Amino acid sequence: MPSTFLNGVLVILILAGARVVLAVLNTPRNVRLTSINMNLVLRWDSSAEGTSDLLYTAEAKTSVTMYRVGCVNTSALECDFSSLEFPLSLYGRYTGRVRAQQGPESSPWVESNNITMDIDTIIGSPSVSLFSNGAALVISIEDPVFAISTLKDVYSTATYNITYWKDGQSEKARNISSVLQNRVVLNKLDPWMKYCVQVQINAGERREGNSKFSIPSSTVCESTTSEAEAPWVPAVVTFFIMTLTATLVVIALVYRKRISHLLCPQEALPSHLLETQNSPNDWTMQISDQPEEKYNSVKVIADNKSMEQRKVIGKGAVCLLQDT
Ligand SMILES: *[C@@H]1O[C@H](CO)[C@@H](O)[C@H](O)[C@H]1NC(C)=O
Ligand SMILES: *[C@@H]1O[C@H](CO)[C@@H](O)[C@H](O)[C@H]1NC(C)=O
Repeated sequence: MPSTFLNGVLVILILAGARVVLAVLNTPRNVRLTSINMNLVLRWDSSAEGTSDLLYTAEAKTSVTMYRVGCVNTSALECDFSSLEFPLSLYGRYTGRVRAQQGPESSPWVESNNITMDIDTIIGSPSVSLFSNGAALVISIEDPVFAISTLKDVYSTATYNITYWKDGQSEKARNISSVLQNRVVLNKLDPWMKYCVQVQINAGERREGNSKFSIPSSTVCESTTSEAEAPWVPAVVTFFIMTLTATLVVIALVYRKRISHLLCPQEALPSHLLETQNSPNDWTMQISDQPEEKYNSVKVIADNKSMEQRKVIGKGAVCLLQDT
């Protein structure tokens, strides 16, 4: 029947027209502004199914500034403002918006939720390493890396809440809270026992009065060893010996002159003997040239003593070298 045929054509035409209109008007859906570790990311779902050539433009503003462009003509379904040269403030209250574009056509803007960076950001888990040290365990905690600033700068009162338990006995877990240091030693543990540790950051109270916690770290486990075995003892002894040696060397250097004077008194020999050290014959000659002086008798002991005297002279030379 012709009327049915015409109706069918009409329906197709209306649907096609509606499709064109929808492609122009369809806005991105499920627009949400998120923040993890002080980043700022706007996310959305595609505005129209089966349309692959849609592009999006995303912007953000604080409660006291105008919208600023973040991403332009992106085909992605998110815009990470913190990875762009976008000015972000630690305590800013942000809103995002996004619109779809296809050729010259644009959808209306869709606004997101608001978030206040320090209050709403999700603090990621700290990373925890565990080392056994005899019957003790050393916990080393690293803060999550923030997109802007650092954990301790944004949350100056942040502390760690450390939970530890014997492997398989998590119901008997023990707790150390308000820990400020990121290196902690668990003492007095059972030897040869496997312990597990989990750490959560307590970022303290925020403006809304609630405590803010990080995502807990993953659980790490490590076994203690023998109580008697204390690997740090040799290290301490070595350190002590090295310190002592270094101190002695420094003292020796500082008091170099005094020490060398003590060991090598100046004028160990009469100076005319020093002058003639290289030639024993001349020395004999010189002594015999001065008959009045008492040490003429040196001549008598001649060769036996000459070696000894040369040693003394040699030592004198070393002392002279040290003095310069
Ligand atoms: C984004 O796309 C629109 C439409 O295709 C175009 O007119 C505009 O110049 C593009 N902007 C940039 C910055 O590429
Ligand atoms: C520390 O963590 C444990 C286990 O998650 C929890 O029971 C406890 O309340 C926390 N303590 C503080 C002070 O946050």
